[in-house]
Amino acid sequence: MPLDDDLRLPLTEEELSRRRFLGTVGSCALAVAGAGTMVSAFLYLEPAVLFEEDTRFGVGRPEEIPVGTVLVLPKQKVYVVRSAEGFYALSSTCTHLGCMTTYDRDHHELACPCHGSRFHLDGSVAQGPAPHPLPRLQLTVERGVLVVDSGRHVAGDVLLKVT
Ligand code: FES
Repeated sequence: MPLDDDLRLPLTEEELSRRRFLGTVGSCALAVAGAGTMVSAFLYLEPAVLFEEDTRFGVGRPEEIPVGTVLVLPKQKVYVVRSAEGFYALSSTCTHLGCMTTYDRDHHELACPCHGSRFHLDGSVAQGPAPHPLPRLQLTVERGVLVVDSGRHVAGDVLLKVT
């Protein structure tokens, strides 16, 4: 007896229900696989780039900042100092364990409240436990404005001379 005779037999209600169930399960599996493929395709097309905050910011016109000034910029965690020789910028993050230093006007030093480190105004260590000087940051003049880049360190003796 040929097999296709079986297909012509009238199907019972139970057989129809089983086929509908299997058809529904198959359709759902295809839909889930299709949705997963589409999500993967969209994620692949999305650029995998982290946009970081700009580390550069202006602090004012150099001719408006008198010699001896220490600009304290707590939001940016930076000091900008104008010495008789020129300008420089320092990170205010303590090199011991990362606390924020403060400007001690009475002693003309930078002091860390956490473990007592002190720094001279040029960033060098006056008193430990800080192991390193405060890093100097890149300082430039752009369109007549002093611009600090807190993301770029420079050598500890770099000065910006403005005439
Ligand atoms: S974090 Fe500044 S002295 Fe420890």
